[in-house]
Amino acid sequence: MDDEPQEWHRGELTVSTDRRRLDVAAALELLRETHWGQGLARDALECAVARSVCFGLYRGPRLVGFGRVITDLATYGYLTDVVIAPDERGQGLGSWLTDCMARHPQLGGLRRLALLTRDAEALYLRAGFTVGAGRWSTWSAVIQEAVPREPPHRHRRSLP
Ligand SMILES: CC(C)(COP(=O)(O)OP(=O)(O)OC[C@H]1O[C@@H](n2cnc3c(N)ncnc32)[C@H](O)[C@@H]1OP(=O)(O)O)[C@@H](O)C(=O)NCCC(=O)NCCS
Repeated sequence: MDDEPQEWHRGELTVSTDRRRLDVAAALELLRETHWGQGLARDALECAVARSVCFGLYRGPRLVGFGRVITDLATYGYLTDVVIAPDERGQGLGSWLTDCMARHPQLGGLRRLALLTRDAEALYLRAGFTVGAGRWSTWSAVIQEAVPREPPHRHRRSLP
């Protein structure tokens, strides 16, 4: 990704999109606290970080929040992996982080910035998202756990 690093400040808190500052091991630790990230592998997260706009929320040097937007920086973005450290929740940090994500200057011209959430709809409504097909959309949906299955016709494809 060739996004330009951005920063927002609030007292001793900083939101930064500078990947050089992001400790992937610390982000992995946060994501492993979530209902979707428990099995996330480090190399998968490294690959994801390299290919998306990543937002680290720091209290001093400590990474206390993380989120990222998968995007082409031109037309569409998908906001995901938003997490706040368990001991830092309930103080408005999640709201501030998602607000910064929605206000990133290179994401402002996108046709749509979307996300799926199972139970954190209120968080995104605060950041200006709406439920439905608005420009910034959140579709509240219960996402079933992904069940690995055999791709259809995988072994049945006829040889050329
Ligand atoms: C969801 C999460 C990021 C919220 O972070 P936070 O810093 O506690 O959020 P805020 O203090 O800014 O709270 C904002 C709103 O989010 C909602 N919210 C907070 N924690 C929540 C939780 N665990 N589940 C659902 N909604 C939550 C509340 O409606 C809250 O509004 P309120 O203060 O009027 O009650 C945090 O609880 C977290 O990391 N949870 C685990 C990962 C996760 O579920 N991420 C969202 C993926 S879609």
